[in-house]
Amino acid sequence: MDKQITAILVGAGNRANTYASVQFNFPEKLKVVGLVDPNPERMKFMKERFNVPDENCFDYVDALCKREKFADVVINGTMDQLHVDTAIPTLEKGYDLLLEKPFAVNEEEMNRLREVAQRCGSKVVICHVLRYTKFYKAVKNHILNGDLGDIISIEMNEHVNFHHMCVSYVRGKWRSEEVCFAPMLLAKSCHDIDLMMWMMKPTKPISVASFGSEFMFGPQNKPEGAGNRCMVDCPLKDECAYSAEKHYIDIQRWPQYVWNDSPELRNLPVEEKRRLLETTNPFGECAWNFDRGGNVDHQTLIVNFENGATGTFSMIGGAAKSERNIHIIGTKGELKGLFESSKYVLRTLTPSKDYSGYTETEYDVNVTGDMIGATGGHGGGDTGLVLDFLEYMNGHEPSVSCTTLEDSVVSHHTVFCANESRKTGTIIKL
Ligand SMILES: NC(=O)c1ccc[n+]([C@@H]2O[C@H](COP(=O)([O-])OP(=O)(O)OC[C@H]3O[C@@H](n4cnc5c(N)ncnc54)[C@H](O)[C@@H]3O)[C@@H](O)[C@H]2O)c1
Repeated sequence: MDKQITAILVGAGNRANTYASVQFNFPEKLKVVGLVDPNPERMKFMKERFNVPDENCFDYVDALCKREKFADVVINGTMDQLHVDTAIPTLEKGYDLLLEKPFAVNEEEMNRLREVAQRCGSKVVICHVLRYTKFYKAVKNHILNGDLGDIISIEMNEHVNFHHMCVSYVRGKWRSEEVCFAPMLLAKSCHDIDLMMWMMKPTKPISVASFGSEFMFGPQNKPEGAGNRCMVDCPLKDECAYSAEKHYIDIQRWPQYVWNDSPELRNLPVEEKRRLLETTNPFGECAWNFDRGGNVDHQTLIVNFENGATGTFSMIGGAAKSERNIHIIGTKGELKGLFESSKYVLRTLTPSKDYSGYTETEYDVNVTGDMIGATGGHGGGDTGLVLDFLEYMNGHEPSVSCTTLEDSVVSHHTVFCANESRKTGTIIKL
């Protein structure tokens, strides 16, 4: 029988709360016993939510690490640029680690963390939650079963809808490398590059070429006559797809970003939200006022693999609808699917006199998939990831979906090299 795993949350924000909340459905598996977060409001909320005693609450990891180790693992949900510096002391203290993506924002950080994890013999799992969704698990199973034969080509894309694009990558905290240290390909699509590497395993990428630009946003593209605060002085607000009023009052999606995941702010009456968007809340600013520092809003890469297979991936921000498509072509068949629909088709070459020469089967993972991780964020991926991590911490072998640090090194390195390729206009050898 597996034991209950005790955890300390380092960076007790939105993501750490999501993962730690698995404790409420599976109290026999997980218990939060410590918190590290310098934000007093955040600390108060999480301390009460998880009933953590004062003596186990710390502002910074240095203070945590002065104490004897008192939990099994750390769940690190700090922002991108803090992952490595906040993770290393906890690894050196002997904690195993569940670490948010992107786990590092450059090669130097990546290698520093890797060296410490190897030296300390730590188990480190990176939060590539999509690997745990029924859709991608089903796709991976077809590959493992040999249904596609050897993969010749993998084509993938991610369309980020205009609303998500704006709240995270234009007005939000991932808008520029200056703010979050991660370009959009890393911040948004390191999941997709991880999925590509996972599907292609065991072959590895050997070179990459990439193109992309800041096409749409930035002050240089501000529509003529637009104001500075949508709900105060903009004559174009009713015709603008990015109006703060439509996004944050009428639709109210992504409140965790607009209201900084503060329960007090999230629950404000709408008149008060309106007042804040008209005055101090940065999400009330014209979307074109934000300096993205040349951060891409779309990027494409071509990957060459060691065994001669090839892959392509496009991330496109500002689409009408969010979609992730995948099309894998192998020597025995092909698979084509749309993540958001939970559906895919498998076409298997069947040599016969039949004109088509293949059989086609349609799958709907909502009907045929298993129920592990079927509920919760990221199509069940968030819960699936945590449950799998807890099993691994109990001494079980890593599952097929488990993203070890070494797995994630391959995908992060590919992203870093893709960005170098985009900037230099050259093919980069990995
Ligand atoms: N896996 C996914 O699908 C997924 C989805 C969204 C975000 N993320 C990633 O999760 C991470 C966290 O994002 P979020 O939206 O939860 O952020 P957040 O801002 O809600 O949480 C970060 C927390 O870290 C705290 N913090 C700041 N400095 C700290 C320090 N020195 N030590 C400890 N804590 C500190 C902040 O006070 C805050 O509470 C980011 O890296 C983001 O890219 C991953």
